[in-house]
Amino acid sequence: MATINDNYLKLKAGYLFPEIARRVTVFAEANPDAKIIKLGIGDVTEPLPLACRQAMLKAVEEMGDRDTFKGYGPEQGYGWLREKIAANDFQKRGCDIDASEIFVSDGAKCDTGNILDIFGKDNAIAVTDPVYPVYVDTNVMAGHTGPQNDKGEYEGLVYLPMTADNNFTPDLPAKNVDLIYLCFPNNPTGVVASKEQLKKWVDYAKANDAIIFFDAAYEAFITDSEIPHSIYEIEGAKDCAIEFRSFSKNAGFTGTRCAFTVVPKTLTAKASDGSTVELHKLWNRRQSTKFNGVSYIVQRGAEAVYSPEGQAQIKALIDFYLENAKIVRDRLTDAGLTVYGGVNAPYVWVQTPAGLSSWDFFDKLLQNANVVGTPGSGFGAAGEGYFRISAFNSRDNVEEAMKRISTM
Ligand code: MLT
Repeated sequence: MATINDNYLKLKAGYLFPEIARRVTVFAEANPDAKIIKLGIGDVTEPLPLACRQAMLKAVEEMGDRDTFKGYGPEQGYGWLREKIAANDFQKRGCDIDASEIFVSDGAKCDTGNILDIFGKDNAIAVTDPVYPVYVDTNVMAGHTGPQNDKGEYEGLVYLPMTADNNFTPDLPAKNVDLIYLCFPNNPTGVVASKEQLKKWVDYAKANDAIIFFDAAYEAFITDSEIPHSIYEIEGAKDCAIEFRSFSKNAGFTGTRCAFTVVPKTLTAKASDGSTVELHKLWNRRQSTKFNGVSYIVQRGAEAVYSPEGQAQIKALIDFYLENAKIVRDRLTDAGLTVYGGVNAPYVWVQTPAGLSSWDFFDKLLQNANVVGTPGSGFGAAGEGYFRISAFNSRDNVEEAMKRISTM
């Protein structure tokens, strides 16, 4: 009989967001008249920017003409998109990133999971707590952990708490680690990291031959000019960091699918025979084997993000969601709750009222206000006592949800 990857049995029954969706469905079936407002999963609600739509329509027409039709594209992404990304997202900010170091993909979620393919089994791995659950679950699936303990922590992972007590600034690990996941602007807390804080991590990684996985999917929401958008703004990061980016949250591509990962050519790690290997070559090999690229049409849509019209349109989208976040922050603060994040990020991290666990607060909000958020404990043990509210929704829904919460 065929056997399974037993590591999957160590996972919690369901991934966090489908589990929330399941509970909401049960509630909706029992309360068919409830007008539920979802501020849970960070999924965008506003339509795609016009510049992207027009570029995709044009690309569809090209696909209908023998002379301009495209079959398989380069697995790494088309050169014209990689050039635009390198110039606009990195070189303009003084980061020495070349187009050849950019790998276009169908999602940062997939890439942050897939990246483990090119790393060994015995790395010591650090994650912040709370954390985007994909980083943890993909390590469990890959067999990099033991079972989960009563706190919900997996044996073998090094957890770095991020709470109000340490100002959401995770400390360096007490023991040496080889792989470190960082996400800034942070999902779920919505806090950002300063240049000094990131420098601390880059210095640590360089001193310990560690690699940082830097998830910058929410960089477009940074409004503070002092906050770095890319880890490569920190000197030395090209020698120790892989960066993940996405068009999902800035240009509304959650359903369209386009992202990219930067693997600098200067980045190396050790093979088991002690030799030094370029990670860029391995990732290129992995992608060429397991991935056939993002569709031509979607890449043309992503390219349009960098046109002057595209830039103006995505700025309007981001401003819109940030105003939602401000409304959430202001209304919840007025209602007596303590909130964090939501200034340079689309997530507001709310302290649950005394005596209420994250899931208690989830149930209370769902029952009494018909509003869905995400329980902090779903992001890790240190998320207990917190609750995440996403700013991705229409203005009317955000206003209405806040009104209901304030009066419940
Ligand atoms: C979230 O709600 O944390 C995000 O939607 C996760 C994601 O982008 O996959």
